[in-house]
Amino acid sequence: MKAINKYYLTAVLVLALFLVPVLLLATEEKKDMPAAEGEEFLEYITEVNPYHEWDLWPGTEELYEGTEPHGVLLTTYVNKKALRGIEEGMLEEGMPYGSIIVKENYSPDKELINVTSMYKKEGFNPEAGDWFWLVHTPEKEVDNAGKIGMCIGCHGQVKHRDYLFIEAHKQ
Ligand code: HEC
Repeated sequence: MKAINKYYLTAVLVLALFLVPVLLLATEEKKDMPAAEGEEFLEYITEVNPYHEWDLWPGTEELYEGTEPHGVLLTTYVNKKALRGIEEGMLEEGMPYGSIIVKENYSPDKELINVTSMYKKEGFNPEAGDWFWLVHTPEKEVDNAGKIGMCIGCHGQVKHRDYLFIEAHKQ
């Protein structure tokens, strides 16, 4: 009886030793990305994983000439997932979940007006490409967030390219 208990205990311990890291990893991965919610997303792109450290949209430079209704001068950042999506030609198939694109909109005298972002979040809004939209101020305050009709309305023109106006970036 004693021997069985020992084996049983060992088996449980070994199992636990394997399971704990697996479970921790799984929750970590989920924690990695923010919820599709204004404050949490803003904190993510400004503090947790600051977008200023990301790559620029391939083929663009800082303060490139923009198009309406975004600023006259624009700087567009992409996170790793978005970059992979762009490089692997996923604009036709859709960008990978977790992709984030952050666009700084500047006035002609290079003053930051606001920042507009798109975040591909699984299940957030399947009717419109599952994109979460955010506008935040230079003071890092949420101005508008979520399923913003105005953004979806215009970006819907390029629905076939996952709502991305990529042509505008080609130089
Ligand atoms: C009237 C049309 C229009 C509206 C409204 C609009 N956009 Fe855009 N958006 C564009 C165009 C055109 C570009 C490409 C600009 C460029 O980089 O030259 C663009 C680019 C972007 C990009 C970079 C990715 C891409 O598609 O090229 C983001 C991010 C973005 N917009 C966010 C937003 C958000 C957030 C809103 C709503 C607050 C919004 N946009 C409203 C037309 C629009």
